[in-house]
Amino acid sequence: MKIEGSVALVTGANRGIGKAIVEVLRDRGAARIYATARNVDGLAALVATDPERIVPLALDVTDRAAVRAAAAQATDVTLLVNNAGTAQFSGFLNTDDPATAHADMDVNYFGTLSMIRAFAPRLKANGGGAIVNVASIASFVNFPVLASYSASKAATHSLTQGVRAELKAQGTLVVGVYPGPVDTDMARGLDAPKVPAAQIAKATLDAVATGTEDVFPDEASANLRAGLLSDPKATEQQVGTMLPG
Ligand SMILES: NC(=O)c1ccc[n+]([C@@H]2O[C@H](COP(=O)([O-])OP(=O)(O)OC[C@H]3O[C@@H](n4cnc5c(N)ncnc54)[C@H](OP(=O)(O)O)[C@@H]3O)[C@@H](O)[C@H]2O)c1
Repeated sequence: MKIEGSVALVTGANRGIGKAIVEVLRDRGAARIYATARNVDGLAALVATDPERIVPLALDVTDRAAVRAAAAQATDVTLLVNNAGTAQFSGFLNTDDPATAHADMDVNYFGTLSMIRAFAPRLKANGGGAIVNVASIASFVNFPVLASYSASKAATHSLTQGVRAELKAQGTLVVGVYPGPVDTDMARGLDAPKVPAAQIAKATLDAVATGTEDVFPDEASANLRAGLLSDPKATEQQVGTMLPG
């Protein structure tokens, strides 16, 4: 679909990859961009770059009433970008606190699911449009240092495949984005080379424009994907050396 003239809604737009996606949408001529965040105060500087087109909206994706309210307000959306995410740096076994596992699943999986359920009818009414789910290369192999996060992103990938099939008839493109390490707050504790958020944003919107369903937007992601296809067990074992501290 064309980015120019589209009406987009981006979750987690106040920083990191979400903010970069809003900036690229703005620069590529989106007609309106709903920049959403849990705290709209954090959107002020971004909105000030183009107050005519960037509309701030309060939205916690785990709050189902807030998700429904956003869908009631942003009725003109043609491109939904599910970017909001959390990452607990923890293994499965170095805690028995169930909250750690629930936290990432609540935002990354259930939050994305709520958004899609709320906005799919809007996209249909507006001609089909597109949904982007920002998942992770951890969707395809478990990183023990980010154990429950990896599980939540595997769930996000499965959700992406399922809704792609269910929304095909209404003409909605569903894009999954699977980055490696990106230079944002989330990856601050990760000792690995990282790419700028703008690179992920550009690759994501290129994919929407060309109708590409699966996006491996950086070298680390593309290499890991290639490894998983050519020798999945060796790649699992290599990633499995990244144990929680
Ligand atoms: N950074 C990486 O290396 C990397 C790699 C692969 C995939 N990703 C994925 O990329 C996406 C963006 O991550 P990032 O790197 O930009 O991280 P980030 O800088 O930590 O930003 C995360 C964003 O998600 C928002 N968020 C968290 N919980 C939310 C909720 N319940 N409702 C609404 N918004 C919520 C945060 O809002 P607050 O400011 O209110 O907390 C923030 O805007 C995530 O889905 C992440 O899993 C990141």
